[in-house]
Amino acid sequence: MTAPPPPADSPEDSVTARRFALHSTFAPLAAAFALSACAGGAAGTAPSPSNRPPVPPVRADALPRPVDPVRAAAAAKGAFPPGWRFEPGTEATFAEHAMVVSVRQLASEAGVEIMKQGGNAVDAAVATGFALAVTSSSNGNIGGGGFMTIRMADGRTATLDYRETAPAAATRNMYLDADGKLTNKSTVGYLASGVPGSVAGMAEALAKYGTMPLARVMAPAIRLAREGYMVERDTSRGAAQCSRLIAQFGGKDLFCPGGEALKGGTVFKQPDLARSLNLIATDGPKAFYEGAIADSLVAEMKRGGGIITKADLKGYKPVWRTPIIGTYRGHTLITMPPASSGGITMLQTLNILENFAPLPPAGSAGYAHLVGEALRRSFIDRNSKLGDPAFVKVPMDQLTSKTYAKSLAAQIDKAHASKTPAFNAGPEPEHTTHYSVVDPYGNAVATTTTLNGSYGSGVWIRGGGFFMNNEMDDFAAAPGQANMFGLVQGEVNAIQPGKRMLSAMSPTIVVDPRGQLMMVTGAAGGPTIITATMEIILNVVEHGMTLADAMKAPRLHHQALPDELAYETRGLSGAVVDSLKAMGHTVATRGSLATANSILRVKGGWHGVGEPRSGGVAVGY
Ligand code: DON
Repeated sequence: MTAPPPPADSPEDSVTARRFALHSTFAPLAAAFALSACAGGAAGTAPSPSNRPPVPPVRADALPRPVDPVRAAAAAKGAFPPGWRFEPGTEATFAEHAMVVSVRQLASEAGVEIMKQGGNAVDAAVATGFALAVTSSSNGNIGGGGFMTIRMADGRTATLDYRETAPAAATRNMYLDADGKLTNKSTVGYLASGVPGSVAGMAEALAKYGTMPLARVMAPAIRLAREGYMVERDTSRGAAQCSRLIAQFGGKDLFCPGGEALKGGTVFKQPDLARSLNLIATDGPKAFYEGAIADSLVAEMKRGGGIITKADLKGYKPVWRTPIIGTYRGHTLITMPPASSGGITMLQTLNILENFAPLPPAGSAGYAHLVGEALRRSFIDRNSKLGDPAFVKVPMDQLTSKTYAKSLAAQIDKAHASKTPAFNAGPEPEHTTHYSVVDPYGNAVATTTTLNGSYGSGVWIRGGGFFMNNEMDDFAAAPGQANMFGLVQGEVNAIQPGKRMLSAMSPTIVVDPRGQLMMVTGAAGGPTIITATMEIILNVVEHGMTLADAMKAPRLHHQALPDELAYETRGLSGAVVDSLKAMGHTVATRGSLATANSILRVKGGWHGVGEPRSGGVAVGY
């Protein structure tokens, strides 16, 4: 079932190497950490270290999961067709005690450093979140929002919704032109942003489940913003892609100096962002929602015709929600309820698939067909029934019930695709970010956060030093018309002041049948978040793949509309594609589906795997 333990050489060596790298990178920070810790937590209610569960470090070999390397290899062989971009059988990063997997090495290291100082997984997640706001500007953020799933070592579970909200002045048809057609104002510019939730959310998670003051966990991010970091190649590439968006607003001088995208290898300093982060670390989230940062944000809105006001900011509140808890073949999933659709839709799909025991092998036409048909049914419900529970009644119990799933499974014809009305999807911007954390005490955190599109609305808060989200596009800005992910959604997700726009973010924690923390996962990628997260879980739980193979295996996607079964280029063999067409599927290829970062318990510790398609980084010790 599980990944084999690492060989004695590479992963252990790389952990040791990183340990030294970390030590030297962060040594100058020790004094700053100590000082800021003395200054007290900005969260105000920062808990005492006694909140940390009094349990000894978890040695995973206390309860090894059964390993079946033969089954794992066979599953991967079937799932990886000839010509697929990745080889099966590669190793994950191994760590004995704790792990952070995110899209940036420096952000993963920030979380690990906090845990090495005695912090727990929530402390580390918040450190990583703020470090991503500095090092991954197109998706890491303080101008966006997100969702966090937490499982503490004592079994407590929690989900925090810090999704953006529609400003009070938002109106149902604010993005339509005179002919009722959608304009691009929900994606670009001053009107596209919801009221940001990230700062309030991270501070709230820390106050309730963390053990360290805000200033201490923010110290790595502040240093990275103030002293700068080396721009990675892909950051430079992202800026190049977005320079036309960025160039319309105030971020152009910093991100496109002299009209050129940032070059890989330059040291990138962000003094305005450093100042904002410092204010948050010192004064708490009030600095963002009521203080100097709020002033800069509202001034920028006024300058460009935006509608977010001081009252919107002051009124923003993250919400603790009851997690969606479901099962799949004896495993327990802890995941995100609305305002994200992620948990319900993933669980509903798994509940449907559970009726087919066992599922056909990964990579086969039968498997792709069943996954596609199950997803079609769950997304039909998602797109028409899910919205912010503060505004609409969400039939959560029905949608997640095994009985309902059984009735949907009974409608699936094993040999023929069903139909939903056709629709042409728009392009898929890729800019959300997911990170997974486990600590030495047995706590785990899965977090997904986003600006929505890459660099969000493009609007740059002058003086504040950050980009604003374009999350308003996740509403059904024109019910019945597709948004930028091709999602056609209904009235339940129409724009209303103060409402949270429906998300697909699915930060998920899996507990094995013996009650042991097993897996932490989630993804970026709009609606493909739901499918990728589910497929990674299926690859491990159903097909018995190692985590490395589960992450590298080709991915599928179906979202009801457009009515097509998407697969990654060369991710299905020609014969399988022909069979799917013969069953009546419209098939479509995508270059890449989603960006995930995952952790899996293995004998003696943890395997961490960053997204192989775009280069996530696992760091542990
Ligand atoms: O909340 C959502 O579902 C979207 N705003 C996520 C956007 C996304 O993942 C973009 N790509 N990586």
